[in-house]
Amino acid sequence: MPKGLRIAINTGGGDAPGLNAVIEAVTMSAYHRGWEVFGIKNGYQGLLDTDEIVRLTPEKVRNISSTGGTILGTTNRGNPFAMPVKKVDGELEIKDVSDRVIENFKRLKFDCLIAVGGDGSLKIAYEFFQKGLPVVGVPKTIDNDLGGTVITFGFDTAVSIATEAIDRLHSTARSHERVIIVEVMGRRAGWIALNSGISGNAHVILIPEIPFNIDKICDHITSLELEGIKYAIVVAAEGAIPEGGSEIIKEGAKDGRQDVVLGGVAEYVAKEISKKMGKDTRSLVLGHLQRGGSPTTFDRLLALRFGAAAIRAIEDKKFGHMVALHPPHVTTVKLEEALSSMKRVPLDGDTITTARDLGISFGD
Ligand code: F6P
Repeated sequence: MPKGLRIAINTGGGDAPGLNAVIEAVTMSAYHRGWEVFGIKNGYQGLLDTDEIVRLTPEKVRNISSTGGTILGTTNRGNPFAMPVKKVDGELEIKDVSDRVIENFKRLKFDCLIAVGGDGSLKIAYEFFQKGLPVVGVPKTIDNDLGGTVITFGFDTAVSIATEAIDRLHSTARSHERVIIVEVMGRRAGWIALNSGISGNAHVILIPEIPFNIDKICDHITSLELEGIKYAIVVAAEGAIPEGGSEIIKEGAKDGRQDVVLGGVAEYVAKEISKKMGKDTRSLVLGHLQRGGSPTTFDRLLALRFGAAAIRAIEDKKFGHMVALHPPHVTTVKLEEALSSMKRVPLDGDTITTARDLGISFGD
């Protein structure tokens, strides 16, 4: 067993409940092998400005697995391969500063970087691996859209929070005979909307994988009324797309942000339903409530398993790999493979069929 390895760990992209559990498991598993772990602040930024690197010891991480957020900080800006840098005239220019990251990594005598992130951060990790950096990835995203693993941590917590919110909306929507549209996260995959929508007895679920038609949604609400159900709950993934249209963008990608900000689909659907049916509608966006707070037991355990598996992957020299859940096992897959395609909701899967069997409409 290699003694005395120096492991760096960072967390990148949007936070997800379970990040601290990964950090705890990585630190403890390394400690029990006589290795050292160093926390890199704010994604890859901490390998450019190295002042804030912290040595992670058992005292620093004990019991953080139950807490939300990440003790290392995170960002979805600042890709070292395309970094916006201010010129003397104040204008921004995009520069490749990845060599500086590699120089610092070598100077600090790190043996491996554990990159905990979603597709954006793991793509960067893979680029560093291609440039010779020993990297092991840990998949994280509440959206559950990363390939190569059956599930990512953070997803179960987000679904639980969304389901509780949907449960609560039924009584108020029923009392006012309203249609309430709740927008949940899920940029290009509708996993959160689908799982929380079914679990929360929604009447309509809109996901990016199935373009929706407002008339079909209205027809479904009318058919509910004929059954005596005078209200409706619609769960819409933020990335849901109207037929023939495109996703609703709130803000473009700018200042080094890796992707556009989506938002507004619930409001759009609410206005359209009200216009077409004359029904009283309301919309709400659950937003970052889905990412905040403690992880569920499932996410906590999965994240602890992923963290410990990342250390075993280093022991096995599985660089350029990502840990992954393939029940009942946590295994490793090549980053290249995991990143090659996004994991979207399969339209022929039994979850979609279950929803249809339950009488839930997808607006199609
Ligand atoms: O990718 C995870 C995610 O939570 C998306 O579902 C959402 O669109 C995005 O991050 C929000 O990012 P931000 O925290 O920058 O608003």
